[in-house]
Amino acid sequence: MQILDGKITSQAIKDIIKGKVAALSAQGKRTPHLAAILVGNNGASETYVASKVKTCAEIGFESTLKRFPETINEAELLQVIDELNNDDAVDGILVQLPLPKHISEDKVIEAINPDKDVDGFHPVTTGRMVAGLPSFIPATPYGILLMLEHYKIETKGLHAVVIGRSNIVGKPMSILLSRNTYPGNCTVTTCHSATKNLKEMCLQADIIVAALGRPEFVKADMVKDGAIVIDVGITRVADATKKSGFAIKGDVAFNEVAPKCSYITPVPGGVGLMTIAGLMMNTYNAYMMRSK
Ligand code: GUN
Repeated sequence: MQILDGKITSQAIKDIIKGKVAALSAQGKRTPHLAAILVGNNGASETYVASKVKTCAEIGFESTLKRFPETINEAELLQVIDELNNDDAVDGILVQLPLPKHISEDKVIEAINPDKDVDGFHPVTTGRMVAGLPSFIPATPYGILLMLEHYKIETKGLHAVVIGRSNIVGKPMSILLSRNTYPGNCTVTTCHSATKNLKEMCLQADIIVAALGRPEFVKADMVKDGAIVIDVGITRVADATKKSGFAIKGDVAFNEVAPKCSYITPVPGGVGLMTIAGLMMNTYNAYMMRSK
């Protein structure tokens, strides 16, 4: 069993981007610029956005963080996006989700210029991705692909079972793994809350991507020997022994599943870190596309 280490892999990706950015600076060019929008005070969102901004600084990107109170209305938020769309110095725009209930996430996502859609959530981006055209890829699935590539894991012809069908992870992951590319070329089964024989499905999987958001849901008796297990779960569970008052749990019962696997991602220290690497790659690609 080998651990797929998100810390090592994301650092390797960040180092590659850092080198490219240093080369841009050496030529006197401006560097890629990510603008992040954060609405309200959701603890997890604050943590995610803070690490995205920190990573930008680490690799030499410019970043702008625009914070708004929970009370901002939809029209005001759409106005901010319009300004960023028209700001030539901004390459990538991300709006941290979830948004407060009075704001339509769909409307906000659709307001982002697809050329700056580094989260990869705009329907134009989704369409391009499904068609196999060059496109941004949602950051978490992108991070998973980068991880499979980093460890040179052969995926062709494997049966991948993706548990979850969210627009952010499950749905794009299923599409990407089925494409005729590397990593990809898998036979993909998408499972979700209405799947009747989930355990039997999982037992047929060469690759399991667990992205349902239920702590330690995937148990050892659902995993065949030698499977590759990718854990996208990242749920805060109350834990009085931790200073923060919570522990981070994945969707896989790591201790019992790991001994059966050929490869497995830990939580924390796995896919979560790769998500940021995926976002940074998208932002670099947005910059390159816009500087053509
Ligand atoms: N909320 C949960 N995951 C994500 C993500 O990848 N991007 C954004 N913007 N919000 C999220």
